Amino acid sequence: MSEDLHIIQGTKEAQYQALYPQIEALITGETNLIANLANIAAALKQQFNWWWVGFYLVAPDNQQLILGPFQGPIACTRIQKGRGVCGSAWQQAKTLIVPDVDQFPGHIACSSLSKSEIVVPIFNNTHIVGVLDVDSEYLNYFDATDQKYLEQIVQLIVDHSLL
Ligand code: SME
Repeated sequence: MSEDLHIIQGTKEAQYQALYPQIEALITGETNLIANLANIAAALKQQFNWWWVGFYLVAPDNQQLILGPFQGPIACTRIQKGRGVCGSAWQQAKTLIVPDVDQFPGHIACSSLSKSEIVVPIFNNTHIVGVLDVDSEYLNYFDATDQKYLEQIVQLIVDHSLL
């Protein structure tokens, strides 16, 4: 594992293309889920400097998400299935992009500074083990490029970690 992340400037696409192989290298050979989630959250924060980036994991009762490794301000620890953007992405089993969180019914405001959000479910085959949540302090910050690469990055987690 390299010690330093190589941060690049450029388009969003170029940033993800440079980051993806580094994330893969970072977690290759490490099977511990929490360690991998922690380093991925840190790598994404270092490259993109988003307001908040982190993971929620499905609880053993399969009814709620519990806060996992993240970078950013303190956050809500538990989210019920179907609640907020995270719980909705889990229930609907698909990535949700929310350009304006104030327009999303039931949005859970962990921070009033968060303005837009993307939540990407982490699929282990057909069932969801958690979600990646990213918040921005800017409106309309996430798009199909984020969805494409973040979905690839969460797949790396499943491929490399013991779940
Ligand atoms: N806004 C999220 C809650 C998690 S925090 O943003 C970190 C939601 O509505 O699910």
